[in-house]
Amino acid sequence: MSSQNYVKIFDTTLRDGEQSPGCSMNLAEKLRVAEQLEALGVDIIEAGFAIASEGDFEAVQAVARQAKRATVASLARAATGDIDRAWAALKDAKNPRIHTFIATSPLHMRVKLEMEPEAVLEKIRASVSHARNLCPDVEWSAEDATRSDPDFLCRAVETAIRAGATTINLPDTVGYATPETYGAMFRDVISRVSNADQAIFSTHCHNDLGLAVANTLAAVAGGARQVESTINGIGERAGNAALEEIAMALRVRHDVMPFDTGVETREITRASRLVSAVTGFQVQPNKAIVGANAFAHESGIHQDGMLKDASTYEIMTPESVGLSESSLVMGKHSGRHAFRQKLEELGYKLGDNEFQDAFKRFKDLADAKKHVYDEDIIALVDDETMRDNQAIQFKELEIYCGSHGPQRAILTLEVDGEEQTVTTRGNGPVDAVFKAMRKIVPHDDAQLTLYEVHAVTEGTDAQATVSVVLAEDGRTVRGTGAHVDTMVASAKAYANALNKLIVKRGRSELPAVARTGN
Ligand code: KIV
Ligand code: ZN
Repeated sequence: MSSQNYVKIFDTTLRDGEQSPGCSMNLAEKLRVAEQLEALGVDIIEAGFAIASEGDFEAVQAVARQAKRATVASLARAATGDIDRAWAALKDAKNPRIHTFIATSPLHMRVKLEMEPEAVLEKIRASVSHARNLCPDVEWSAEDATRSDPDFLCRAVETAIRAGATTINLPDTVGYATPETYGAMFRDVISRVSNADQAIFSTHCHNDLGLAVANTLAAVAGGARQVESTINGIGERAGNAALEEIAMALRVRHDVMPFDTGVETREITRASRLVSAVTGFQVQPNKAIVGANAFAHESGIHQDGMLKDASTYEIMTPESVGLSESSLVMGKHSGRHAFRQKLEELGYKLGDNEFQDAFKRFKDLADAKKHVYDEDIIALVDDETMRDNQAIQFKELEIYCGSHGPQRAILTLEVDGEEQTVTTRGNGPVDAVFKAMRKIVPHDDAQLTLYEVHAVTEGTDAQATVSVVLAEDGRTVRGTGAHVDTMVASAKAYANALNKLIVKRGRSELPAVARTGN
């Protein structure tokens, strides 16, 4: 679609979203999310920050190779080494994009970059032209645009476009803008910059004041035709603008915001659940569009209205965001064929071995649990497929617990292919399990900062999903696990967090920009 009113959706769940404290995804998880983002119809997937670590590079490269239709972008600072690394990761993509940035606000230039404004302009020119010599699609971002001097911002944008940038992003990096000021900034820059018609303008909003989506929509009204956002609004600090909220606002209020996107909105719920499963960040119940209560009606007056005509209290249908009634799937007598059909309906395409594993786990679950719902199947498959190729694998757990402590855990893990079993005592079963984890995989510097249990469905036989957060030297990671036995789910969640910690330890700390440029 190339109409004047088409707004490109740039998803940065795998880059800015992954920068959320406690968030990290492994390669298999990123590939699953990227696949779902394509099903959702996003135009651009920002797959990572290639120079940040070997793992980030591999992830960008793998997403670039996997993507069938979407453009794949990698972030790069305004330095030759960053841009070369981004290009090396992207070059096999059908549609690659280098996304390079530098700060333009007086505060960032002085304190963080320690550079004079003229030197920043020179760096923009050099970095964008270097990127453009490698790749025909180059995005340039003015970090902290909303606190930049408007005249300097216009000069910076003009320089970037002249050097070959095809997209200009003006981020509200610290979530400081209001809808009026942000919309006005786009109008101002687009009208003042002489070569503005040679680039697409993009929004990128953080949610520190809870205004990220409102600001994004104001920027679109002000001339932006690309919006950067994340699934469930995950991201640095208070998060980024939520993709699902922008897409539904543009759809439901098309009367006052006549803009189109390529989003297949019925894929929203699936994308939200997948990102939540992969990151361990549960969606708050009252979250717009994807919260558990977004389509729930409890008060008598509302229920009465709903029964007469759903539009009395619903401005969009649950089906339009891909939400179906919780359906009873099958029981223990259901066969392979029905299970495969259900998986396909839920959007999973498993290979033969994965399918056999999933079917076995489904049978075990159906033995333990009377009713198996869609949510159960999703938790079961996500839980297992996310664990492929991890160094630490949960194997077995036995627990002795009750009113007479100390409680005891016998835990078996596979670490780098080798099974290890230990017995530990603890102050309660969770303590015993987590001590066993520490005994097999020592990690003295990491603290457990959160332990959370949620039920996947209703009923006492529901599966539990457990989230744990570990913090070590300023890094935080969140692991999740699902099982009908809460202790097994806890052990899986802890092992998942440890695996993520290993990934994060390998990630380099990046300075703002290499001052010499390379
Ligand atoms: O928030 C921000 O400014 C960013 C840029 C790097 C695009 O994430
Ligand atoms: Zn950002």
